[in-house]
Amino acid sequence: MTAEQETQVSEAQIAVHWREEEYYHPSATFIAQANGADPALFERFSERHFPECFKEYADLLSWDAYWHTTLDTSNPPFWKWFAGGRLNASYNCVDRHLTNSRNKAALIWVPEPETEDTKAITYQELYRRVNEFTALLRDFAGVKTGDRVTFHLPMVPELPVSMLACARLGVIHSEVFGGFSGTACGERIADSGSHILVTMDGYYRNGELIDHKTKADEAVTKARALGVEVAKVLVWRRHSGQYASKSHMVPDRDFFVDELLGAYRGHVVEPVSMPAEAPLFLMYTSGTTARPKGCQHSTGGYLAYVTGTSKYYQDIHPEDTYWCFADIGWITGHSYIVYGPLSLGTTSVMYEGVPTYPDPGRPWRIAERLGVNIFHTAPTTIRMLRKLGPDEPKKYNYRFKHMTTVGEPIEPEVWRWYHDVVGKGTAVIVDTWWQTENGGFLGSTLPALQPMKPGSCGPGVLGIYPVIYDENGMVVEAGSGRAGNICIRNPWPGIFQTVWGQPDRFVQIYYAKYCRDKNSKNWRDWPYFAGDGAVQAGDGYFRILGRVDDVINVAGHRLGTKELESASITVGEIAEAAAVPVLDQLRGKAVEIYVSLKPGIAPRREIEEKVAKAIETEIGKIARPKNVWIVPDMPKTRSGKIMRRVIAGISNFTDVGDTTTLANPEVVEVIRHHVQAEKVARGEVPRELSPQELEEIKAFGRAE
Ligand code: WTA
Repeated sequence: MTAEQETQVSEAQIAVHWREEEYYHPSATFIAQANGADPALFERFSERHFPECFKEYADLLSWDAYWHTTLDTSNPPFWKWFAGGRLNASYNCVDRHLTNSRNKAALIWVPEPETEDTKAITYQELYRRVNEFTALLRDFAGVKTGDRVTFHLPMVPELPVSMLACARLGVIHSEVFGGFSGTACGERIADSGSHILVTMDGYYRNGELIDHKTKADEAVTKARALGVEVAKVLVWRRHSGQYASKSHMVPDRDFFVDELLGAYRGHVVEPVSMPAEAPLFLMYTSGTTARPKGCQHSTGGYLAYVTGTSKYYQDIHPEDTYWCFADIGWITGHSYIVYGPLSLGTTSVMYEGVPTYPDPGRPWRIAERLGVNIFHTAPTTIRMLRKLGPDEPKKYNYRFKHMTTVGEPIEPEVWRWYHDVVGKGTAVIVDTWWQTENGGFLGSTLPALQPMKPGSCGPGVLGIYPVIYDENGMVVEAGSGRAGNICIRNPWPGIFQTVWGQPDRFVQIYYAKYCRDKNSKNWRDWPYFAGDGAVQAGDGYFRILGRVDDVINVAGHRLGTKELESASITVGEIAEAAAVPVLDQLRGKAVEIYVSLKPGIAPRREIEEKVAKAIETEIGKIARPKNVWIVPDMPKTRSGKIMRRVIAGISNFTDVGDTTTLANPEVVEVIRHHVQAEKVARGEVPRELSPQELEEIKAFGRAE
């Protein structure tokens, strides 16, 4: 192992080891109505028919011009799908449904306060709103095809409206998750070179009207410090005509959208016919360095892929009421709240607030009232609802035919509660494994044709050929019981095109590891490296173990260790910081930060609080560490690299592994003593710990 590898903590190393689980089969009723019920699908999408098989997905869209080349591999690994084709994403998600479904709800928006009315937005209404905002963007904000516009919007209908307005013009949108800090937003504005920020004054979360516009001011300041000037801040208002923020509106920079829209009433803007390979949006994700990666997604390939997978894997029919309980600020929301479902012309439900507000029966009340029959969420939400309201689903009269879990591995126990209680024993479940970079699902069962297995996502989806390689590029065989790096052998239409402004990093991170020949134009020489550890059972199903790089997946959201550490170091007292994942009952994983102090500074509790605050400010509340540990020194290799694996072992009460290569092995026991004694005192001990171990550590703590 090189020193470089040693410093990386693999989440797989601390993953719980699961036993093989029993299959669950879909009901005959589900199969009878499913979109993907014909086994011939597998043959149609077999490798023999690659890449032409994806025409089946592309044919679900309306094209202005057909493509001449399904997959252009002339510049690997910058694949071009449907080259020569032209289309508009906004047209596909809105206009084309007017003929048959003009007055059907496209979006149903549920505000968090139960006293506020739910709003249904028909396709006609969506068409009107998108056109008016498009006109405003073009004529007032002056944006042009190819420009980037950053959004920092919460879960309100104005978000999909803004996305579809940009798409109409061929403007690249970049939505930053609303819960992220102004600083994080500013960095993403600067990275993408956006001169327009679209935000909102406030929104409801946990019963509180949160002041959000203040973050826009921080974002503009941060972007300026990084050399990018925001010319206009367009502020939607949560309640039209009322301003919910304390921050003042900067003259000539900040504008209320509801005031401006009057001038564009009834305006119609023709959708711009875009090349299939034109970028549709950027979605930032965390990686191995502090600089976030703007994943650039295409128009034709992406839209085809999310539409196809929504049809077959989400089993969306136009008459379904589909609710994906995710945030549009993440890729799941882009692909499976907005683009996929709207492209299919279904009704997509959006909920503003937290799952358990005002009580853990809320999601089921919404489902009952709206007649939701497809439900899609993440393990972290499922765990929370199971903990706070295990019997709530029984009290409501809804019936799901289909449910999804996404974002992190789901424990079989939690899966069974989801199946038995939320799904009332009748809904099928798909466990969908994929990433921001991928556009849409990579691993999942095809719900009518492949049985479910709790804790496993299933095999590769149609047209995706995954493989597990070991460190030397040798295939790890299915059923061998060994874990390795899961890769995808082939390109697919949903794959991102590049990292915005960093093409070398794109190649380096995702393709360099297993590329067989850098000069090859054959896609078979360019497997995609997903960065997840996985094992494949004898039946071909994959079990994902977690990230192999230094990214921590908290409640389904990827946080870069470098980002967390950089934020910690903004605190004046801190010399060094290391972030590690720790198992957490609710969030799956949580962050713990280890810090060492500058010489002459004595440890104080308030320093821990400062670090936690700095992370909240720089990144967002979601990243707030579970604990901040002040330690005398970090365990380091002789080349001076922090060995996160060792401290992750301490945080999780697992084996710290080999410490003989450390420059300062003695520090390990000091840290372990301090951290574990404190954790035992706080009752933060993982369940797997044996009673003897617990006693031992307790005794250790007392001895001090
Ligand atoms: C993890 C979210 C196990 C994985 C769509 C991946 C999962 C990272 C699953 C991507 C799943 C996502 N089972 N692990 N069903 N889905 N992951 O970019 O580690 O926010 O690499 O995309 O989440 O997170 P991202």
